[in-house]
Order: sequence, then structure tokens, then C-alpha cells
Amino acid sequence: MTSPSNEILRVSDLTVEFPTDDGVVQAVRGVSYELHEREVLGIVGESGSGKSVSSLAVMGLLPRGARVRGRILYRGEDVLKMPARRRRALRGGRIAMIFQDPMTALNPVHTIGDQLAEAVLAHGLVPRGQALARAREMLDLVGIPQAEARLRSYPHEFSGGMRQRAMIAMAVINNPDVIIADEPTTALDVTVQAQILEKLLEVKDAVNAAIVLITHDLGVVAGIAHRVLVMYAGKPVEIGDTDTIFYRPRMPYTAGLLGSMPSLETSGGRLRPIGGAPPSLINLPAGCPFAPRCPLADATCRGEEPGLVEAGEGGHYAACHHWREVAATADPTTLFRTESEAVG
Ligand SMILES: Nc1ncnc2c1ncn2[C@@H]1O[C@H](COP(=O)(O)OP(=O)(O)OP(=O)(O)O)[C@@H](O)[C@H]1O
Ligand code: SF4
Ligand SMILES: [Mg+2]
Repeated sequence: MTSPSNEILRVSDLTVEFPTDDGVVQAVRGVSYELHEREVLGIVGESGSGKSVSSLAVMGLLPRGARVRGRILYRGEDVLKMPARRRRALRGGRIAMIFQDPMTALNPVHTIGDQLAEAVLAHGLVPRGQALARAREMLDLVGIPQAEARLRSYPHEFSGGMRQRAMIAMAVINNPDVIIADEPTTALDVTVQAQILEKLLEVKDAVNAAIVLITHDLGVVAGIAHRVLVMYAGKPVEIGDTDTIFYRPRMPYTAGLLGSMPSLETSGGRLRPIGGAPPSLINLPAGCPFAPRCPLADATCRGEEPGLVEAGEGGHYAACHHWREVAATADPTTLFRTESEAVG
């Protein structure tokens, strides 16, 4: 298949395994997606679904011992086959990452200014003064007041929201094409979350980057992402345009996530949480990994794991034996009706 000219990243059949004393953890089991210039792709799933591991694989930041297979093409070039030097240049240069907890990425013993300048110096031959000027410009861009003075601050002198802004500044300082933002606002309180997301989008537009926005909360990607990829137990289980995912979900898990979003109706409370927990990724049983929690599960589901099939127009794919039944349900979120609702 020829790739469209504006495609910057293509991940094909990515798998990541971690050999451990208890067995092999199958953290990522065949993830594929493509990302176009300036696009926002949301990756959504519960804790442990493989969102971070698949992104760390793209960045080349997996721990030693991780087994990676598949292809990760950056502008057509396979990242997994690049010489280490070229890969380092890509990371933090063309592809940048923002982590959930800025304190793991910021060094406590260096000033914010030094760390930002260092990020510039690591990727280009510029005089230090110029790197610091760029650092100040970036702090301005992310909305940190008195940027000049703040260059001399240490990370602990910043609030959580300011640290996350500094992380965004660090991510975009070398004008990347791709920003992978891994739960960039989860650690922040709700009002700050909204401000940071808004800033992230503004900054992304300023540098013309595309974003992979990772979150466990579908609400975060609404109104932001062009497309959404839903993950469960290391696999993509549904992918489509954001509106399609929100209004025409075909995989019960997606419907469950939609039904469990906080709503006005329940004044911020969860409407219908999905019961149960995801399976262990060591010795996964045969069949659909969602079966133990799925209201539509039957013998077919327990016998064979469904692959992604086209379930609608415009690149809509779902991994479910019974997606047609989901399609025929007026409001698929009601599949997860609680007992009291079913009685009442
Ligand atoms: N270094 C490792 N060794 C063994 N297992 C690992 C390692 N790193 C991650 N895992 C496992 O891989 C699976 C996927 O983890 P991952 O961090 O990608 O989940 P996630 O979707 O990002 O979850 P969260 O929302 O909690 O961040 C989990 O079961 C996790 O325990
Ligand atoms: S394949 Fe079966 S168990 Fe899995 S999501 Fe579809 S209906 Fe549920
Ligand atoms: Mg994670």
C-alpha cells in the first residue's frame, strides 16, 4: 500500500514482550496505526492496556530485555532498524514525548533554563546563549510568566501545572513533527488539566506538530482528537474518527468506556462503570480477552480472539465477533446496564 504523502508515522503490527520470572508479559500484541501531519490521534484504554509501552517502543525508551517486533516507520524509514545515533537524533528532535509525571523527566538539580538549553544543545550546534534564548522563548510560548527569571528556577519551585508547561516547552523546543503525550494531565486537578490541554494544542499548532494523545479517559479526547484508537489487553480493539467512536461504537468495550464517562446526569459521578478487571497479560487465555466482562460474550467469543474488521465507513475498524449486534443496539452503552437499572 502506498502511504499518503502527509503520513509521518506508521506503526505496523508492533508487539512488545517482557520476559519475567513469572512468565512472558505480552504487553503489546499487534498495534498498528498511522499518524498524519498535524493530526491528533487519541489512544485510549484502561490501566495496563499497553498505551505507554507501545509509545516507549516508538521512542526507543523500553527497558533492556524487552522484545520488540513489528515496524515503526518515521517518514518511511524503519526506526527499529536505524543506527543508535540516528535514533537518538530522532528522539527529542523530530519525535518528542511528554510524560504523566514531569518530575520523572525533569532533573531536580538543574535549573529549568539549563535543562531546556541542554535539550537544544543535544540536537544542534548553536551557541549556549542562543539555546538559552530559545528556552526563554519556549517558556513564553507555554504561558509561564516572567520567563527570563523562571529560567533560573528549579523544578521544585514550580507548581504541578507549571512543571507540565515546562515539559511541553521541552518537548517542542526542537520543533518536532510528532509529540507523544502520555497522560499529560492525569496528575493535575481538573481546572489545570483543561488549561494544560488547551496550551498543548496551541503549542502543537505553533510548531506544526502532530500529537499522539494517550489517556485512560475518553472525555479528554472528545473535541481534541481527529481519530481515536481504543486499546484493550495490549491490542487495538477499535479505531475510527472521533465522532464515529463516540456515536457509533461497535466494540462493547468502547461502549462500556463511553457509558462510564462522568456525565452531567450523575454530576461528575460515573454513570455505568464496567465491572471486573482486565486479564493478566501472562498466559492470556484463548478467546476475546474482554469476554469475562462483556454482556454479549458467548462460546464463539471464548473460543477465538476476534481480529479488527471493517465495521463502518472512513477507516472504522472493530475487533468483535458481534459488532453487528452492537450496531443494531440504539444506545450501545445500555449493554452495560446495572442490575438496578435493569429492574427499574
Ligand atoms: N518493564 C516491564 N516489565 C514487565 N512488565 C511490564 C514492564 N513495563 C510494563 N509492563 C506491563 O505491560 C503492561 C502494559 O503496561 P503499560 O504501562 O503500557 O500500560 P498503560 O496502558 O500505559 O497503563 P496506565 O494507564 O496505567 O499508564 C502492563 O501489564 C504492565 O504491567
Ligand atoms: S468478541 Fe465477544 S466477548 Fe469480545 S467484545 Fe465482542 S461480544 Fe464481547
Ligand atoms: Mg501508561
